[in-house]
Amino acid sequence: MSDSFTMNEAQPRLLDTTDQGLIGAPLDRPEGALKVSGQATYTAEYHPEGMCHGVLVRATITRGTVTGFDETAAAALPGYLGLFHGPEFLRNPAQGMAGKAPTQPGDRVAYHGQPIALVVAESFETARDAAARIVVHYDEQPGAPVDPETAPSEEPDDRTVQGDLDAAMRKGAATLDRAYTTPGHAAAAMEPHAALAEWEGDHLTLHGALQMIRYNKAELADAIGVKPEQVRVLAPYIGGGFGSKLGISAEHISAALAARALKRPVRVVMARQTVFDAILRRTETAQRLRLAAETDGKLTAIGHEDRISNLEGEGFAEPTAAATQFLYAAPNRLVRKTISRNHRTPSGSVRAPGEAVGMFALECGMDELAETLGICPVELRLRNIPEKHPETGQTFTAHALAQALREGAQAFGWDKRTEPGTRREGEWLIGMGVASAARTNMLIASSARVTLTRDGALVETDMTDIGTGSYAILGQIAGEMLGLPIDKVSVHLADSDLPGASGSGGSFGASSAGSAVFLAARKIRDELAKRLGCAPEDVRVDRGQVTGDNKKAALADLLVEPIAMEASIESGETAKTHFSSGFGAHFAEVAVSEITGEVRVRRILGVFGVGRVLNEKTARSQAVGGMIWGVGSALHEELSHDPRTGHIVGRDLANYHVPSHADIPAKMEVRFLEERDDHANPIQSKGIGELGISGAGAAVINAIHNATGLRVYDFPATPDKIV
Ligand code: MOS
Repeated sequence: MSDSFTMNEAQPRLLDTTDQGLIGAPLDRPEGALKVSGQATYTAEYHPEGMCHGVLVRATITRGTVTGFDETAAAALPGYLGLFHGPEFLRNPAQGMAGKAPTQPGDRVAYHGQPIALVVAESFETARDAAARIVVHYDEQPGAPVDPETAPSEEPDDRTVQGDLDAAMRKGAATLDRAYTTPGHAAAAMEPHAALAEWEGDHLTLHGALQMIRYNKAELADAIGVKPEQVRVLAPYIGGGFGSKLGISAEHISAALAARALKRPVRVVMARQTVFDAILRRTETAQRLRLAAETDGKLTAIGHEDRISNLEGEGFAEPTAAATQFLYAAPNRLVRKTISRNHRTPSGSVRAPGEAVGMFALECGMDELAETLGICPVELRLRNIPEKHPETGQTFTAHALAQALREGAQAFGWDKRTEPGTRREGEWLIGMGVASAARTNMLIASSARVTLTRDGALVETDMTDIGTGSYAILGQIAGEMLGLPIDKVSVHLADSDLPGASGSGGSFGASSAGSAVFLAARKIRDELAKRLGCAPEDVRVDRGQVTGDNKKAALADLLVEPIAMEASIESGETAKTHFSSGFGAHFAEVAVSEITGEVRVRRILGVFGVGRVLNEKTARSQAVGGMIWGVGSALHEELSHDPRTGHIVGRDLANYHVPSHADIPAKMEVRFLEERDDHANPIQSKGIGELGISGAGAAVINAIHNATGLRVYDFPATPDKIV
């Protein structure tokens, strides 16, 4: 039985009345010590008896058909175990949450670097050598379009139009019409993608670097033609996801198929270059933003059009204008998308899809419009906060944008900001920038089981922890509800045999899985009330004592029989009438060298309203991580493609520049506003991680303008674009 979350008029704020002090406390992650001491076993660190190693063979053409393989040279190597291929080896990476096998382009190669077969050998070294010796015969179709600008394109009909944008642009007292371009991004998770497949009879156990176990199990079963009950997926530790591990990819499918054929465990660990080539990238975007306003700064029109790219047949389309649809009010609105069908690595979700790149246009555009109008950019934003969702008319749940902008401006010393290009320290020009932060908040179906015994509590769900703090948070929720210290709560995650949860993605994991744990623990409290003999709403569980209705008992005495409860939650009516989003404000100060064009971010402040904070430390780390990605997308990160083949070049972390420690200021400050989102879920919390990135890069770009007077429209803002 699933509880669908619909806000009741008397929503009990149960977590505000419990006494453990665990909720929100900045507790360490329980698995932290295992990770830093090398004892946490990632997928590539299991060594089952008889394991052999697979290396993916990948296409060296951009478009065509594989007509045959010559494995003679490979088969001569001692320890060579075989070449495995077939149409299912060519499947694209899954996009997450579909719960079925990802797209299968038949026997067609659709992009350069695409996995097409698996070589297996006794050792990794032999497998790698053998993979290089496989000769692939192709029927190549030359001239595949790889440039999104010239490739054929289509326009999905999910555009939104309100009023008359063109007329409003003609009448506006101030207008802006700008083109912005953002490059492709790689998720760049530290742990390379990996799979270990082991069959016992017709049952498959798969260790995988994966974010969403319940969906991944269904995807894999469908892809290899078995029933979901025959598949068990495990991912207890994951070295970062950022969207790249939402769905299964070639390593999981090929390891499973080869292991079945060889009757031995097969492990496939991608080399870094393979991760870049064969794992979903974030699309490049070309955006056009139009704004019109009255002299008082009231927006009359917002138009946001974008062109993104993906492979033919792929359903994912970067929701570039996601935040534009609800961040500011304006009676005339247009959002329209074009999808270019090119032959690059397929694109998918990468850390805050939509907002992360779309907010460059919207928030840099707002900055420029503010300058045109002679209105402070903080003030311009404050004047355009909508009463209701501008497109759907939904009521906003807790909405902290105004408060975040005001408190952030004060804390940052925004009043010290000077006119563009007027503050200088030697060769360095100094400037400040602001941007709004917004990221839609979601509640995704989740289940959890909590068992309470005299020894403590056990939390079980297939929820994952991709480095975000799930182990900590879920333990804190159960401990808080059941009156237990944190060391009496164990948390078992990421096993598909456990109750299925949201998994980690879209910043919805902590709130969704956390709500299921909360509800399961509440059922245990109800049972404790029954055993004590009091009404469920009166029961209190605190430090080993259960009290209620003037009755009192030691928890242990009520637990002669343990209590196990399972609960599920999914979004209900409230999600239709109400719109929940995290909001916030980013402030950045940069120094720009007049001589080299180098940009140094000196300090950043993010102020966020994210509902209830479940663990102040992991929440802060999420926000800081997001803000660092924001700096990266503003200044460093950029996928490059060979213009002839579409092949990604610079396929490693030396050439794909994520921010290094030296790129990030010591002064990174995060403030969480005191907030409860009653309409989001029963624990009144919202997503955090992706809110940190959404808008952060625009604040940096706006600060560059304030420092230098220069506007950058083509990201990242590398020194060559500034000098
Ligand atoms: Mo996220 S890009 O949904 O992991």
